[in-house]
Amino acid sequence: MSISPVFRTLSGLRVSHLSFSYPGADPLFEDISFSLPRGWTALVGDNGLGKTTLMNLLVGALKPQQGTISPAPEQLVSATCAQNNTVIPDNLEEFGADWSRSALNLRDLLGIGDDWAYRWAELSGGQRKRLQIVTTLAKNADLVIIDEPTNHVDEETKAQIITALQQQRDVVGLIISHDRDFVDALADNTLIMTREHVSAGAGSLGRGSQRRAVLGRALPGHNVTVIRHYACNFSEAQAQLRGQQLSNAGKLDQAQAQLKRLENLKRDRQAQVAKIEKVKASGSRIDRHDHDAIRRLQTAKMMGADAWASAGAHQVDAKLQAAQQALSQVSVAAKRYDAQLEALMCSIEPSSRAVVASVERDFLGDVFLGDVDQGSAATKQAKLTVGAQEHIGIIGRNGAGKTTLLEQMNAAISSGISAYYLPQEISEEESQKSVNTVLDLPAELKSQVLTAVASLNADPDKLLTGKAPSQGEVRKLLLCMALVCDRPQLILLDEPTNHLDISSTEALEQALAAYRGALVVVSHDHRFLRACTTTTWTVRDGQVDVQ
Ligand SMILES: Nc1ncnc2c1ncn2[C@@H]1O[C@H](COP(=O)(O)OP(=O)(O)OP(=O)(O)O)[C@@H](O)[C@H]1O
Ligand SMILES: [Mg+2]
Repeated sequence: MSISPVFRTLSGLRVSHLSFSYPGADPLFEDISFSLPRGWTALVGDNGLGKTTLMNLLVGALKPQQGTISPAPEQLVSATCAQNNTVIPDNLEEFGADWSRSALNLRDLLGIGDDWAYRWAELSGGQRKRLQIVTTLAKNADLVIIDEPTNHVDEETKAQIITALQQQRDVVGLIISHDRDFVDALADNTLIMTREHVSAGAGSLGRGSQRRAVLGRALPGHNVTVIRHYACNFSEAQAQLRGQQLSNAGKLDQAQAQLKRLENLKRDRQAQVAKIEKVKASGSRIDRHDHDAIRRLQTAKMMGADAWASAGAHQVDAKLQAAQQALSQVSVAAKRYDAQLEALMCSIEPSSRAVVASVERDFLGDVFLGDVDQGSAATKQAKLTVGAQEHIGIIGRNGAGKTTLLEQMNAAISSGISAYYLPQEISEEESQKSVNTVLDLPAELKSQVLTAVASLNADPDKLLTGKAPSQGEVRKLLLCMALVCDRPQLILLDEPTNHLDISSTEALEQALAAYRGALVVVSHDHRFLRACTTTTWTVRDGQVDVQ
């Protein structure tokens, strides 16, 4: 079933001056250029900047309004691995029937069960992700793009994915990810996508229509999406980028101070001219001790006040123009949304009940009863309970039953408790529905939801356009809508940091840590769990250990 690549030795891909907008929306990119060398390159950037869109452009699934990709997408065999693990691979059946040496090697590397291709509907999120990756690699393509491969997967699987990808030496490959350790282990080249603010007047850098304050200063200008290539891993690239951003912020300060000085000078000069005109017009005498005024009047008489004013004005205007030009050369990181969700979280009252939800310890029923030590009868029968203010993290390998446990808990919430459940996957229809629901909210609630969304580092203006949100954006939207509208006493989250960019994950963990109600969250991100939970349930072999 393997397809022969057209360019067995494709040395790289060149993207030049690419611009793209979705119909009726502001441009996502304008005039971006970069190269992809042979090997794996990481693409890192905040939610909603357009990483998945860029993937679709590179493989020809979307057409840019301007710019070129060389070699052109239609000249290449390309393979993409979808970000959303509800997307069934188009070669799933073929892969299921492929017992060639290379297919067996891939199955081995990623621990794919022989029957998985026929059991898609029953597979766990992490198992599906593995199958998506393996079927993408089986296409043996020239250009391979994998969109967020470590969402849903446990640490062991992550290591397997790294090994499998490292073996694909001949591809031109792009890994879109928010997982720093993963991309550092795999990619020697990095593309960082950022939103940057360009002060007014920087025509060469694009015509984006958003106007925002930057770094707290009310400065006219616009934001543009920038992609920079670094010939090093992500951590080094990020350090270089931060250095550049700090230096640019310093340059911006200097340029702004110079501009302000010149504006003040111009104003002073205009005031002086006005004063002279007034003196002349009123015919009043100048104080003989006011030497400055006498000199100005003499100069004005000699040149005529208008000429004197315009000579000065020309000089100041020329300097002002130069200062504005200098300002427009500096682009700085666009302002992040720095509102806090903590106040909202703290305002939600926990339940006064001792227990808000419970689930049987043998929640998987008979599935594991055969070969597992079930413990004492007392342990076996005791229920797992969630206290009104308990924060529980659920961990365990892929397929251990974490989502089943959460679903059963969701079905067994104590009566009268208001609860919110955020599932692991959200379909396209649900995404669109969530935006429409927010748009239909009464003004006050809508504004509260959008403020909350902004504090999770998402752009509320984009959501207001009613267009399909990105995978990261929709999670923020659903959670914030529930917090504002339902004020839940119990929150159940299934892998909430999947799809979230690094800053958003940090904002979410702080918000959840401040939440006073009950929280049960499934995650493979131990750092995240340490920040917002205090109890750990480990799901293993159909049993739950509580620590
Ligand atoms: N079909 C579409 N029509 C209109 N707008 C869209 C469409 N698809 C995506 N968008 C918008 O384009 C922007 C970029 O989306 P994209 O999915 O490419 O972002 P991303 O960088 O991959 O985000 P994430 O990290 O959350 O996956 C988002 O604001 C999204 O709302
Ligand atoms: Mg995406």
